[in-house]
Amino acid sequence: MTAFPTRRLRRLRGTPALRRLAAEHHLVPSQLVLPVFVKEGITEAQPIASMPGVSQHPLDALPDVVDAAASAGLGGIMLFGVPLTRDATGTGATSPDGILNRAIAVAARAAAGRLTVQADLCLDEFTDHGHCGVLAADGSVDNDATLEIYAEMGVAQARAGADVLGLSGMMDGQVGAVRAALDAAGFANVAILAYSAKYASAFYGPFRDAVESTLQGDRRTYQMDPANGREGVEEALFDIAEGADVVMVKPAMPYLDVLARVADASSVPVWAYQVSGEYAMIEHAASAGLIDRERAIGESLLGIRRAGADVILTYWAIEVAGWLRAGKELA
Ligand code: PBG
Repeated sequence: MTAFPTRRLRRLRGTPALRRLAAEHHLVPSQLVLPVFVKEGITEAQPIASMPGVSQHPLDALPDVVDAAASAGLGGIMLFGVPLTRDATGTGATSPDGILNRAIAVAARAAAGRLTVQADLCLDEFTDHGHCGVLAADGSVDNDATLEIYAEMGVAQARAGADVLGLSGMMDGQVGAVRAALDAAGFANVAILAYSAKYASAFYGPFRDAVESTLQGDRRTYQMDPANGREGVEEALFDIAEGADVVMVKPAMPYLDVLARVADASSVPVWAYQVSGEYAMIEHAASAGLIDRERAIGESLLGIRRAGADVILTYWAIEVAGWLRAGKELA
């Protein structure tokens, strides 16, 4: 006679109620952060062709976006500025009149404590060459000269009212430099989100459209090599030692192994950024009728949670928060 299995793992999969009871991972709206693009000089929202459903917003419309994000119960918004003019050193990033600093001020006022206002701290949207830092005479990205500008940019963002600064430029020492500048300027309570393991990724393609990037070439001399996992953990540990309050892995889906390793090693919260290319792939595959859109979105987010993300930055944040409030299963 055949020996029947005594352990039957299917038992807990038999009904929706059992599956809900047995689910190891969940998502709530406060674990989602919405990236928001604010463009200088426009009066109407401008759809981003490469990211169906995502727009650049005029400054005047930002309070409505903040209201929508707050009513959805999101944990925050991450602001990106798209300026009208750019220069070699990215002066629009440090000026209080720069579009990002103005957007922070408008968002902070509209948020009134209902959600966190976070800002991208990087020069790429403000430099005419599109790199994340200033260039040395030989054309390379000058790490230490860039740190001085990041420090100034961090203080400008804090002064405008940001709660969390997202350091995404991948310069060595950026967390320590910005932390010291914030503390010296009286902003000891402004938090630093370090994009610690940020890879030189093709999946940022649609974002470069969203911010009208002028970059020629690539960012391989400062963003991480996709071949390296251990180094991602090292980056996170360095950032924690320099004072990061949160560390992040980005992109998410192609780097879930790195996310899991960083989550194991980190003493601070670990977030993940589901980037523009991840968004666009699912949207396009769904429009082509190849996958079930909502299930694919839900599964992608659960996978990122399961790998170890405490919070996820995603362009679907508002929509998914709506599903969660309605009690919909994610996958
Ligand atoms: C840098 C920055 C980038 C993204 C977020 N911050 C672009 C880059 O590093 O080239 C990408 C986000 C996305 O693709 O959704 N300011």
